[in-house]
Amino acid sequence: MWHFRLWDVQDVAVFLSITLYMCHLAGAISIHSPQRSFTRSVQEDVFFSVDVNCSRNPTIQWTFMSAAVSRSIGTWQPGMYTNITVDYSSRVQPYDNGSMSLSDLRLQDGGFYVVTVMETAGSSKDVGFVLKVKEVLYEDLQYLSVSALVLACFAGLLMLAMWLLDKAYRKIVAWRRRKQMPENDATELQPL
Ligand SMILES: *[C@@H]1O[C@H](CO)[C@@H](O)[C@H](O)[C@H]1NC(C)=O
Ligand SMILES: *[C@@H]1O[C@H](CO)[C@@H](O)[C@H](O)[C@H]1NC(C)=O
Repeated sequence: MWHFRLWDVQDVAVFLSITLYMCHLAGAISIHSPQRSFTRSVQEDVFFSVDVNCSRNPTIQWTFMSAAVSRSIGTWQPGMYTNITVDYSSRVQPYDNGSMSLSDLRLQDGGFYVVTVMETAGSSKDVGFVLKVKEVLYEDLQYLSVSALVLACFAGLLMLAMWLLDKAYRKIVAWRRRKQMPENDATELQPL
């Protein structure tokens, strides 16, 4: 089921990047970003690194989009104000160059992230990022099978030890009985 969702996100991402690229207003704004696509595991962090160059005070806005929803993450103007949406306030760290870090990732965080840089004059520019968040299922299964193996070995050793103890106990009992037999005969015979 998750694989289908992954493909959906990718299709949406490709479509939106093309659209945004064709529609962007060529202004005095430039956005440099070294990496556009990220894959992370649940509970990890992601750092969307961008460097915004703008002639006047830029306003930076981050938006999250997936096949199901589109919501604002936060808006800030370096040195002026920072407004992070309540849902994200504990997990988002804004940077003056426009970058944003998102910590403690959840499965629902997988999707498309857009940074929009707006100039006071009115022009704006967007850059999109794709984030895939995967569950750590494989490691869990591996951990489980290793634990099961260790438990099975332990149970085997325990059974072997019990079998050996039982054997030893029987031997001792038999040996004692053999040793006591003549003595008993002797004590019983004494009064006669
Ligand atoms: C933006 O600033 C952060 C923190 O100072 C830095 O780690 C990051 O590399 C910068 N991004 C770019 C693309 O320069
Ligand atoms: C912060 O953003 C929210 C929604 O994006 C908006 O309703 C609110 O007025 C903003 N607050 C400030 C102080 O700009």
